[in-house]
Amino acid sequence: MRAAGGVAVRREGTMMTRNRNLKRRIRLRMAKTGESYTAARRHVAPADRSAAVFERDVPADYLARAAATPIARTYKSLALEKLRLPAGATVLDIGCGTGEDLSPLLDAVGPHGSVIGVDVDENALATARGSHNDEQLRLLRADAHELDFADASVEAVHTDRTLQHVDSPQRMLRELRRVLVPGGTAVFAEPDWQTLIVDCPAPRLSAAYRRFVEERVIRNARIGSELPRLVRRAGFELDSVTPVTAVYTDAYEADRILGFARVTHRAVAEGCFGTHDAGEWLAHLSGDVFFASLTIFIVAAHATESG
Ligand SMILES: C[S@@+](CC[C@H](N)C(=O)[O-])C[C@H]1O[C@@H](n2cnc3c(N)ncnc32)[C@H](O)[C@@H]1O
Repeated sequence: MRAAGGVAVRREGTMMTRNRNLKRRIRLRMAKTGESYTAARRHVAPADRSAAVFERDVPADYLARAAATPIARTYKSLALEKLRLPAGATVLDIGCGTGEDLSPLLDAVGPHGSVIGVDVDENALATARGSHNDEQLRLLRADAHELDFADASVEAVHTDRTLQHVDSPQRMLRELRRVLVPGGTAVFAEPDWQTLIVDCPAPRLSAAYRRFVEERVIRNARIGSELPRLVRRAGFELDSVTPVTAVYTDAYEADRILGFARVTHRAVAEGCFGTHDAGEWLAHLSGDVFFASLTIFIVAAHATESG
């Protein structure tokens, strides 16, 4: 029996029958399409749910894993496109973490440009240093509310899911505006956790879960929809807002990015979810049919000559 943090979610008795059925369906598809076993299996059972487990802790490679998902590749490349980086520019990657966006930024600015990765987390920076050894790259430990750069000293600013965590998004945006040259560009990619949808036959459980995330897990959970206002108030000219929605149809894949089980256990520990509700919620998530989505907003702006 597989357990999700103490909540039993699979009935062992059905496993052998299920595996026999799966193999039969794979053989049938192989005979019909001429596909290999692996290709047919991927079609018949897109995710190997029998091996899947909900995670209890955030893994060390979390940011790299998240960056490698198809949806992250899509929105990250869109964000880079919106940044319109000229060759030779100096760009700040604020909250660069383990450096998932540094290589594309370095490629975009070319051999005469430079990239400065800034983060408060020394461990994340050490990982970024371990995988990057470029002359045009500097990695700095700093709090982005107060940067040690002169006014109007960089051509572009990039953040990806940083503003959702900081003390004051408005103050940080003002600081980023200060260091940007007139005409310089900025792109902020941030989720809005009000857009988290998780299908559940008991909608009160999805609502309670989302409320917990908004109120107790993510400091600035509504940042995605607040950004256009905050960006303007910080003195930027707003250029575009592009929503990108991540859709998950496999609970275990979603859990690896969104941490459903981890967050549910925390909600129980903090008295925001009863044990019975948590069991019902996780049992539902581990069932055969799953749907969740979350929207990330890519907000592009620039610094005006006057601002
Ligand atoms: C969700 S991670 C995103 C990392 C990276 N942008 C990516 O897409 O993989 C958010 C990062 O913001 C950093 N961060 C949070 N508050 C910060 C602050 N005040 N100044 C600089 N970095 C900060 C965190 O340490 C973390 O590495």
